[in-house]
Amino acid sequence: MPRVVGHADDNGAHAEQVSFERAGRTVDAERAGAAIGVSGACENRAVFVVVGVTGGIAAYKTVQLVRELIRAGHDVHVIPTDDALRFVGLPTWEAISRNPVTTSVHDDVARVRHVSLGQRADLVVVAPATANTLARMAAGLADDLLGTTLLATTAPVVVAPAMHTEMWGHPATVANLATLRERGVHVVGPADGELTGGDSGPGRMSEPEEIARFALGLVDADVRDLAGLRVVVTTGGTREPIDPVRFVGNRSSGRQGVAVALAAADRGADVHVVAAHVDAHVLAAASAHPRITLSRAGTTAELQTATTDAAATADIVVMAAAVADYRVDRVADRKLSKDGSDGTLTLTLVENPDILAGLAAERRPGQTIVGFAAETATGDELLERGHRKRARKGVDLLAVNEVGWQHGFEVEENSLLLLAADDDAPAPVRGTKRRVADALWDAVLLLR
Ligand code: CTP
Repeated sequence: MPRVVGHADDNGAHAEQVSFERAGRTVDAERAGAAIGVSGACENRAVFVVVGVTGGIAAYKTVQLVRELIRAGHDVHVIPTDDALRFVGLPTWEAISRNPVTTSVHDDVARVRHVSLGQRADLVVVAPATANTLARMAAGLADDLLGTTLLATTAPVVVAPAMHTEMWGHPATVANLATLRERGVHVVGPADGELTGGDSGPGRMSEPEEIARFALGLVDADVRDLAGLRVVVTTGGTREPIDPVRFVGNRSSGRQGVAVALAAADRGADVHVVAAHVDAHVLAAASAHPRITLSRAGTTAELQTATTDAAATADIVVMAAAVADYRVDRVADRKLSKDGSDGTLTLTLVENPDILAGLAAERRPGQTIVGFAAETATGDELLERGHRKRARKGVDLLAVNEVGWQHGFEVEENSLLLLAADDDAPAPVRGTKRRVADALWDAVLLLR
């Protein structure tokens, strides 16, 4: 994180000759002054962020991203492409960023604007990054201000892709993204959800707060409040086979657990995800995250082995997996057939071990154990059941999730009650799965 002692004005012309540490290197104050854009303070902390906006409907969400960055005290310079201005106009970007906004390499030529923003940047975020933008970046095109800025910068570059699922999955986009990743470009999202036009799937731009936290986490130590911690997150539903083609399972998509893992990794933790049944596209962002390692488990027994092994060296374990409570006592070797059946099928189910209770009972000193509970109760009954379950499992924190036929599964939003031992009646946290994941990590940090 930039820590500056001295004075600077908006363009850095009068910055005192002091130096500051930024991302492990010392930077002279003239750049520092330009970078912080705050005058008169004794100790300033601000990141010089360039936000590139390209032509997609998600540009309206980037207004909120810029707002988040400004609220956090950073100096934000927006570079919209011409196409982006069809979605959100220049006055909005200027008003919200509190800095002049230009799109052309021919503006402000005396200040060599086509490269100066890129040279000064501590961080560059392109949101939304359309399929066209990713292609242009991969090719290194420099025929507009965003293109020249991206070529001139040595700062970390983050892209937040947004496009229709078909475009996201097209081999050209996949190859462009692979090229960018190889060059060290960071990719946040896209999320899986509703897209313009009523379709739904991977391609929706990540939420502004997720992009902000991810991007700032690359340059700002305060955002990496889980750095140095080893975390295990289980996610998805386990399945218990009946025969080679059938199983007993549950409706969990694994999305909330993946959001918990991504939030931890963005905040600096080293994360081991043990995924039971989770669709590949739900796991995509976690698989690509540099601080996440992934292992898979099918049955409860496999999840228990993988989680117990990983927990041996973990500081925090979060059991977000939906564990099948019962398994079939005798799994048939061959597909069960209706031939000769009397119209009923009787299966004997035996209880599976409680993985979470086992981990809590054997926790290492200093290890924090977090459970999830899906409950169909509401109100006081939900709270009571939550407290009883937290005590029964012996966990430090229980995230209670109200579920039902119509809610709790396969949806973007979630609502959780975070119960620790001394929380009589905490307020529920509501929002995107990412937002509640961040609230969970805030609660975990308070306990440690
Ligand atoms: N869990 C586990 N092993 C099991 C069952 C559940 O580790 N065999 C974990 C889940 O991963 C979750 C927590 O325990 O973190 C609570 O799961 P839940 O299904 O709500 O609780 P149950 O133990 O199944 O209790 P009940 O059936 O009474 O609701």
